[in-house]
Amino acid sequence: NIKNIMAREVLDSRGNPTVEAEITLEDGSTARGISPSGASTGEKEAVELRDGDQSRYQGKGVEKAVAGINQEVKRALIGSAFADQASFDQVLIDLDGTPNKARLGANAILAASIAFARVNAVSKKIPLYRQLIERDTYVMPVPCMNVINGGRHADNNLDFQEFMIAPHHAPNFKESIRMGEEVFHTLKKLLSNKGYYTGVGDEGGFAPNLSSNEEAIEVILEAIQKAGYKPGEDISVCLDPATSEMWDNGHYKMYKSNQQRYSSEEMVDLWAKWIRTYPIVLLEDGLGENDWNGWKIMTNQLGSEVELVGDDIFCTNPSIIQEGIDRGIGNSVLIKLNQIGTVSETLQAVALAQQNGYHCFISHRSGETEDTTIADLVVATNAGHIKTGSGCRSERVSKFNQLLRIEQELGSKARFAGIETFKR
Ligand code: PGA
Ligand code: ZN
Repeated sequence: NIKNIMAREVLDSRGNPTVEAEITLEDGSTARGISPSGASTGEKEAVELRDGDQSRYQGKGVEKAVAGINQEVKRALIGSAFADQASFDQVLIDLDGTPNKARLGANAILAASIAFARVNAVSKKIPLYRQLIERDTYVMPVPCMNVINGGRHADNNLDFQEFMIAPHHAPNFKESIRMGEEVFHTLKKLLSNKGYYTGVGDEGGFAPNLSSNEEAIEVILEAIQKAGYKPGEDISVCLDPATSEMWDNGHYKMYKSNQQRYSSEEMVDLWAKWIRTYPIVLLEDGLGENDWNGWKIMTNQLGSEVELVGDDIFCTNPSIIQEGIDRGIGNSVLIKLNQIGTVSETLQAVALAQQNGYHCFISHRSGETEDTTIADLVVATNAGHIKTGSGCRSERVSKFNQLLRIEQELGSKARFAGIETFKR
């Protein structure tokens, strides 16, 4: 039974307030959960509750969300026992009463939902990934490391948001991370030698002003080679251009570089050219969230060549994912806990995608914290790949560190996903 639940305002990696919830059971077990926060959010995401009081944190305070947990949610939950995660989450969903969790706030609800998953793991003395899904063997993910940041995540001239490396030719996660870090450090030297700035963006990747979006890929490929690896064979490239941010009256605008406009078809042609020129295995949000017709064209044209991940278009929402499956849109779903707002609905989204032959790409947000739930989530779901930033900044590498612990603990019960995870 739940003995106590409380919340507090803590900080995310951008220094903005977010919600931490803490649950104590009558057996004395206690655990916490913290919500992350996005910058390039999808329109259909569950919404955060922020105070809007300009005298605190420029309106971004979360004292109302915290108060909701400390009063209303606490009254509803104290003394209750729940058979499973879904029945706990359902109480929060019903209490909130809105379709997008706007009243209590997805930031409050998710923090409580994570705390509940964790406190049950503590109570049963099992790791969180086993609490989420019990299996005999688990798959360790390929870390897709976001080594160059642009778009809304950096003050530079790159239109596209994320340029990632996927070190897939490795015997295990530990070696995969080593390969990725070696490329990350080589890339820093390379950028510096070329006279570029080596400060990092929101997700810990470098944020240089380059001569073109293409140069970002070319310098990454050069770094892979200089670090002693073969592009494509050992380490491939993944992209999240986050093109919903580029959408401008029916066109895509290169809003940070040359202001050029592209139609949906021209964007698909651009991706087709890139995929044939560079060792790209995954393209997320290659088109925007409201461009379903464009997505259909892109899927028909490129869906057999590359993993096409829907982030803003699906928002980790089972009913939208179902529509995407029915209409043949993409072949993979980005999974972000706070887009839907509870642990059980996230697991439901993953199950729906996987049952229909879609991949799941587990993801952090650009505003993160020390909460490492997504590391356990990617293992629990056997999703095979995760994006959780570059090779630096503790809110990013804390997830890698948790995965290193999990891999060691699993021993022979773990298998590394490798290149297979990107295959269709
Ligand atoms: P966000 O970006 O967390 O700022 O929304 C991540 C993404 O677009 O994948
Ligand atoms: Zn994205």
